[in-house]
Amino acid sequence: MRPPGDKVDTEKSVRELRESAAREIESASTARELEEARVKYLGRKGLLTSILRGIANLGEAERAVVGKAANRAKEELTSLIAGKRESLEQGLRDASPRQLDVTLPGTGDWVGSRHILSRVARELREMFVAMGFSVATGPDVEDAYHNFEALNIPEGHPAREQGDTFFVKGGLLLRTHTSPVQIRVMEETPPPIRMIFPGRVYRNDAPDPTHSPEFHQLECLYVDRGVTFQDLKGTLAHFARRFFGSRIGVRFRPFYFPFTEPSAEVDITCIACSGGREKPASGTCRMCGGTGWLEILGAGMVHPAVFRHVGYDPEQFTGYAFGAGIERLAMLKYGITDIRFFLENDLRFLEQFA
Ligand code: DAH
Repeated sequence: MRPPGDKVDTEKSVRELRESAAREIESASTARELEEARVKYLGRKGLLTSILRGIANLGEAERAVVGKAANRAKEELTSLIAGKRESLEQGLRDASPRQLDVTLPGTGDWVGSRHILSRVARELREMFVAMGFSVATGPDVEDAYHNFEALNIPEGHPAREQGDTFFVKGGLLLRTHTSPVQIRVMEETPPPIRMIFPGRVYRNDAPDPTHSPEFHQLECLYVDRGVTFQDLKGTLAHFARRFFGSRIGVRFRPFYFPFTEPSAEVDITCIACSGGREKPASGTCRMCGGTGWLEILGAGMVHPAVFRHVGYDPEQFTGYAFGAGIERLAMLKYGITDIRFFLENDLRFLEQFA
């Protein structure tokens, strides 16, 4: 038989059990700790379970009191455990992508870089500055006089008829090349002149892998007494080898430009097949079409008519000039197959040059 006072003690121990169980449930920080607490109090041999089992052995009065308290404690703890389990699972869901799944990609800072075209333009500028050239720029919106007339391209000349010029209100146009900057500089400055003019140019061409309605050119002008074609050849050969590599061959092919005489197109030996020395597996080199040569720019000796337009005496001064497409130079150097990539801002393209 139980000693007197047992009823009070049992009731008290139910209350204490309930409190310590509640504390342990609340402080569980993992599902495992929570389960341990559940087993400890509510498991088959749990502390509260034992009390519930013992109720049958109590006297009638005690049974009512203790039974009620113990059953209420069981209900409370069961719902405490359910709530705690829910919040642990929620915490796990919140935390896991950042803290627990080590297979997810990192969240490092994304670092930008200069556009490949800016880098090539800067490289070109630095090469010519190192050779003693200075840099100037002119307006993108030009008049027909500077873009055509003063460059010895008279009205009726095919270069003005082809419909490849964007015209702007007021008889103006978007320059189709950087050559008008030659005129603007010579109008303002007496010789000698040794300068480069980088800038954007515009042509009404349908976009395709080698055409874009806007692209960039690097213009060069050197005027002084006694400047010869030999100076042009030396400068361009030096430039080509520095830009494309020392093994590159250079040739001058007779050509026609209205603003130079004589004129030439300048070619380098093909980068893909080493000027035809290496036979590609496909038979014909896709870069040069099997010729072994790639055109890089147009050049020549400044035409006397151009000098007369700017008030220079062609009997006293001679000069050379050339104009190169910056996208074209970059495409050849880096094996870029489509000029439109430069303007599309596709990171898959840009990041290759980061
Ligand atoms: N302006 C020419 C073009 O856009 C390129 C050019 C050729 C520029 C010969 C020159 C030059 O200064 O001498 O096609």
